[in-house]
Amino acid sequence: MCGIFAYLNYLEPKSRREILELLIKGLQRLEYRGYDSSGVAFDQNESNIEIIRCKGKVQALADTIWNRDDIDLDHQYQIHVGIAHTRWATHGAPSDLNSHPQRSDDNNEFVVVHNGILTNYKDIKKFLEKKNYTFESETDTEVIVKLIKHLHETHPKMKFRELVEQVSQQLEGAFAIVLKSKHFPGECVATRRGSPLLVGIKTKTNLVSDHIPIIYSNKDTHRSNLMKTNSLVGAKLARSNSTTEFVPYDEGKVVEYLFASDASAIIEHTNRVIFLEDYDVASIEDGRLTIHRIKRNLDGGDSLTREIMTLKMEIQQIMKGNYSSFMQKEIFEQPESVINTMRGRINFDNETIVLGGIKEFIPEIKRCRRLLLIGCGTSYHSIIATRQILEELTELPVMIELASDFLDRNTPIFRDDVCFFVSQSGETADTLMALRYCKQRSALIVGITNTVGSSICRESHCGVHINAGPEIGVASTKAYTSQVISLVMFALVMSEDRISMRPRRSEIIQGLKKLPEQIKQVLNLDQQVLEMSKELYQQKSLLLMGRGWNYSTVLEGALKIKELTYMHSEGILAGELKHGPLALIDDRMPVLTVVTRDSVYPKCMNALQQVMARGAHPILIAEEDDLETQKYSKRVLLIPHTVDCLQGILSVIPMQLLSYHIAVLKKCDVDCPRNLAKSVTVE
Ligand code: G6P
Repeated sequence: MCGIFAYLNYLEPKSRREILELLIKGLQRLEYRGYDSSGVAFDQNESNIEIIRCKGKVQALADTIWNRDDIDLDHQYQIHVGIAHTRWATHGAPSDLNSHPQRSDDNNEFVVVHNGILTNYKDIKKFLEKKNYTFESETDTEVIVKLIKHLHETHPKMKFRELVEQVSQQLEGAFAIVLKSKHFPGECVATRRGSPLLVGIKTKTNLVSDHIPIIYSNKDTHRSNLMKTNSLVGAKLARSNSTTEFVPYDEGKVVEYLFASDASAIIEHTNRVIFLEDYDVASIEDGRLTIHRIKRNLDGGDSLTREIMTLKMEIQQIMKGNYSSFMQKEIFEQPESVINTMRGRINFDNETIVLGGIKEFIPEIKRCRRLLLIGCGTSYHSIIATRQILEELTELPVMIELASDFLDRNTPIFRDDVCFFVSQSGETADTLMALRYCKQRSALIVGITNTVGSSICRESHCGVHINAGPEIGVASTKAYTSQVISLVMFALVMSEDRISMRPRRSEIIQGLKKLPEQIKQVLNLDQQVLEMSKELYQQKSLLLMGRGWNYSTVLEGALKIKELTYMHSEGILAGELKHGPLALIDDRMPVLTVVTRDSVYPKCMNALQQVMARGAHPILIAEEDDLETQKYSKRVLLIPHTVDCLQGILSVIPMQLLSYHIAVLKKCDVDCPRNLAKSVTVE
């Protein structure tokens, strides 16, 4: 949900061309977060900032920049700050004017890029309009820079960082922002509350420390009432009292900084990063990074330093390679991604499982009153997929919840509840809000995410990284299969001392062992799925039917088809067919049915008969040795048999391939479907 990227070179000479190339590349890495418009701000000359913004994808921005003949691309900078943004519209339609960077005035005195939503922007706008500020965009973001300009004019001695600190305290909602200003050349300030932001540090010499100290800016945490008093009365801004700020690299040496919404845009430059936390204000002045905090933790557990972490990610992991899209690459990566999810955790010989991130909490989890699993979109489907095995192996009540609905209902939560938050990105606002809601009520919080350092990771008491590797395609594929495996492993851990469950556990663990090879086999169906897609891509609708272990599979399949192909698609619980959806069936309605040899097989067959009796000619996903079921259709996708609770991992893959091929045939943008974003950081 919007991507932020910024680059600062200090004493490292760079041409304007190099800087712009770097900014554009950074935006392209973040494009999955939003892609309706984009923009950059860079120095035009000693005293002016140039903004270039453009509706459409980042390539449109690049074309606009490279086609401009009034920009001296060879101009060299010793020190320079460039900020950039790719947008997913929330306030105001995609347009050049609504794109970021947003500016304070016609002279571009202050410019900002923003990810998130300001809930009180109307109040700030009203206040500024009374001060004769006029607005040019429909965004909520524009108020940030106009308020900073206002403060700068009334307090010209304030430092850039102090201006941002003051203004950020007036903002409500979710934001990550990065700013530059013509009044503070070579400086850059960034802060966050609710939206992700990290800083990458690149130095020619080794860092001398892995930590950077935090300076607490305000002794009290009262919000200054900047807008009511029209001045800074009450702001009590404490200047940094630290005279011995420690710099983790040799001072005066070349250093480059990168700010980004996520690590994929930074990794090709450096693997040393700091994940900023809510209320951190990072500022760079004279090539020196300082982190100030404008709020103390309520529990008094304030950190004194922020760790400079070393990312383990490889650049190849975020490159498309020989695939035509990230989504296709990610579908085909599943034989390896599922291994990575299990690596170092399952010992297939003695059938034991260790989940290091939650190990110490297992006794507490075993004593809980119930398990709640909460997520959105595909992550929610992984929860549905594993509910039954969790109920069976933990013998606990398991509630599953869509995060937005859970919050709408103000669901009662108790201190002996264990709440799982499942999220690929670890940043989904609805899921994160639900997490905070449960945490406030003292429940144990378990995060299941794919993104190390994400908000959900950091705010959980414990958790499991699904280790699927970076997922760039907006439609989630490999994260889904790894989420299912992670939750199945958790269920197995919970039942390890139950003698009566040993045969069942053993069956599942051996099933997991065979899974990577079986996934490879399913991926061989690709050509066959392409042929089916050719028959289907001009249809208006596609119904997917399944039940039991495969109900989540058809929900996930239908979501993939909707997201990628814009075709109507519904996942129907086969047991509900007779209660309504059957009315949709005739000889022209395309239907795909999953029928696997598990405990609900006879009921699935009933549903199949019912649709066939109404003239439908369903496509089947069935098991390769189930010769009986194969007779029911000429169009059958055969998958290997595995243990029931893992069967959905194999049956969802043909649906991922189907949605991919239909999207390609319909000439849809596979990696960036219209109107969507991978990481939805707004509620
Ligand atoms: C967005 C994406 C979906 C994803 C959902 C939850 O809507 O488009 O593909 O499933 O967010 O994302 P999360 O990162 O929390 O798993």
